[in-house]
Amino acid sequence: MSRIPKKTILFVDDEPNILSGLKRMFRPMRKTMRFRFAQSVPEALEVMAEEQIDVVVSDMRMPGMDGTALLTTVKKQYPHAIRIILTGQADDTTIMRTIGVVHQLLTKPTDPDVFKQVIRRASALQDLMVDEGLKQLVSEVGTLPSLPETYADLQRLLRDPDSSLADVAKIIEQDLAMSAKILQLVNSAFFGLYTHINSPTRAVNLLGLDTIKALVLGVGVFSEIKGGPSKIFSISTLWSHSMATASYARKIAGEASKDQEMIDHCFIAGLLHDVGKLLLFSRLPKEYEQAVVMAGETGCTLDEAELRIFGTGHGEVGGYLIGLWGLPGPVVEAITFHHRIDTYPELSLCPALIVHVADYIYSRLKPDNCIGQPPELNRQALERTTMLDHIEDWIDLCRTIEEQEGDDDG
Ligand SMILES: [Fe+2]
Ligand SMILES: [Fe+2]
Repeated sequence: MSRIPKKTILFVDDEPNILSGLKRMFRPMRKTMRFRFAQSVPEALEVMAEEQIDVVVSDMRMPGMDGTALLTTVKKQYPHAIRIILTGQADDTTIMRTIGVVHQLLTKPTDPDVFKQVIRRASALQDLMVDEGLKQLVSEVGTLPSLPETYADLQRLLRDPDSSLADVAKIIEQDLAMSAKILQLVNSAFFGLYTHINSPTRAVNLLGLDTIKALVLGVGVFSEIKGGPSKIFSISTLWSHSMATASYARKIAGEASKDQEMIDHCFIAGLLHDVGKLLLFSRLPKEYEQAVVMAGETGCTLDEAELRIFGTGHGEVGGYLIGLWGLPGPVVEAITFHHRIDTYPELSLCPALIVHVADYIYSRLKPDNCIGQPPELNRQALERTTMLDHIEDWIDLCRTIEEQEGDDDG
């Protein structure tokens, strides 16, 4: 395996005390990363002109050119660098100014453990970028979409300790299309609630915040990243596939584990696992249609056709995007590795493996919705985690969900 060079992180803050605090905080991580520090925007740009910087973490308020201005320049001149802003005031105007410019916004004071984790993740994402194909593709795709607005609103609200479930429901209600779509989903057999839900408040109460958050993100992603009409690639089929994979993954995880966080991660990763397809289709429609046609005509998998045309697959592209948005590591990994589970480090019962299985089960239950050769189940990977013994039961479980869903369609 080729060795990945150390990533370099640049911190920018006009206050010397803060910079020395950061130096101390990140000293123990020097074995795996390199750190640079700059006290002003011009100094930061000088550093960037001299050496390759992989992640820039900038303070928002600085005299002269501020953090947003710096990151706007970085976005133009060094599009591969991950841009993170640190701000003392997470008010609406601050956030509005940074949308589309930064990949992640951290509020001060930031918990050191959370901060380190953000930096580790950002650097791991940059490791993915050593893949020349992905690097090339991300630059062809151009500016990557920002986090959907309603989801960003929800996240902001949830940081407020005084927020209530009713406030959450209110945010969803404000977005009529979102609210209608979510109610339609929660009333589908995928949730098996056996009761009709007619308001976001009820939905939030019954399904819990994490599931609702995942749905808001999923619906938001599909409504904001969309391509034009195509006879070759159907977004609505992709949406049903994503929804089914999410509910299968949640069901399987619930059977295999009691870890609620893991179960929630499986749901959200299932919902977003193919977001890379959506991104590729919306940004490079001609090429993506070509991949779909190639898979259909030659009988290879869609993933193989993507590799031939783009040099990388939708898993890597999707994982990269979701990672930029700061979603939890296990979700990012599940998206990235769902077609490369054999290369997943330290395989265990985790969202990556469960989404891989759920995706496979979908192709077994709905073969007509597959493009090209259906994805194969990696039996060796499953054997290592004793999951293989359960696979037939899980297929039956998912079949039951599909049958109920079919009945609901009438
Ligand atoms: Fe996929
Ligand atoms: Fe899939």
